[in-house]
This record gives sequence, C-alpha cells and structure tokens, in this order.
Amino acid sequence: MAWRRVFSEKALEAAGGSVAVKVDDKVIFVAKVGDKLYAIDAVCTHVKCILGSLDRERLTVRCWCHGAVFDLRSGSMIEPPSVAPNFPKEKMGLRVFNARINNGWVELDI
Ligand code: FES
Repeated sequence: MAWRRVFSEKALEAAGGSVAVKVDDKVIFVAKVGDKLYAIDAVCTHVKCILGSLDRERLTVRCWCHGAVFDLRSGSMIEPPSVAPNFPKEKMGLRVFNARINNGWVELDI
C-alpha cells in the first residue's frame, strides 16, 4: 500500500467533514471527527449502496439504503440491515484504511 493524495482538507470541510470519494476502483468514505481522520470502504456489504450518514458521537456511518451501521474505527457492522436479518453479521464488515492530513491534503494509505 502507498499514501495517495485524494483531496484538500478544505474540500473535506466544505463537504461538512465527510465525503465518499472514488480512488481507482475503490469508493472510500472519509470523515474527520475532531482532529482524527477515518477512512472506510464506502460500498455497503449488503447490496452495495454507497455510505452514508456520519454519526460523530458514536463514530459510525449508516448506510442510506437499509440502515446498516458500521464502526469507523474497525469497519465492523454494528447494526444489520432491516431487510436481511439472518445474514451472517460477521461477513458484513468493511475494510478500513489509514488516513492522514499532510500539508492541507487528505491522504489515504491504499
Ligand atoms: S445496501 Fe446498505 S444496508 Fe442495504
């Protein structure tokens, strides 16, 4: 993996502190909460909707489509989608990426 510059810190702030960004073949949800930056695969494991709605207090992101909730720190799904209650929860986590701000740019280790 290698650090990739994806957009400016100002652009992230202008977007309200969270945004889904396409980098090569990936779509990654990036969120800044306080001084900490989080990056998580933005493609929901349920039926592939793009995340989502940031919860700054819980450090989670909710899928727009059916409400699955993922932990920004670990990628674990902590609330399942309402339409598939029997789907194995352990198969629904998302990959997380290291993220940093470097000289005013958001960079992801991808
Ligand atoms: S696609 Fe995300 S919960 Fe269904």
